[in-house]
Amino acid sequence: MPKLTFTATGETYEVPDGTRFLDFCQENDLPHDFGCTVGSCGTCACVIVEGGEALAPRDDEEAETVEMATDEEGARLGCQLVINCDVTIRPAEV
Ligand code: FES
Repeated sequence: MPKLTFTATGETYEVPDGTRFLDFCQENDLPHDFGCTVGSCGTCACVIVEGGEALAPRDDEEAETVEMATDEEGARLGCQLVINCDVTIRPAEV
């Protein structure tokens, strides 16, 4: 199972392949903010600190939304992430 490390808690979790980051956060009360949950508000912006090589690349729509929310290079939308490999994630600075 992929390992998800979340810097906001300092914990590493084993998650089933294909777990949505949004679902995992909500089901486990992880301290990450979400808004629309459909990729349009940018509230959930986060940064892949390490790993994540197998994550689906962000598309133009995700890039456009995330760039409204943060200046951090390569930031992602947490509500759109599907965990399929080991990855370390931190909230983006907004
Ligand atoms: S929660 Fe709105 S873009 Fe992710």
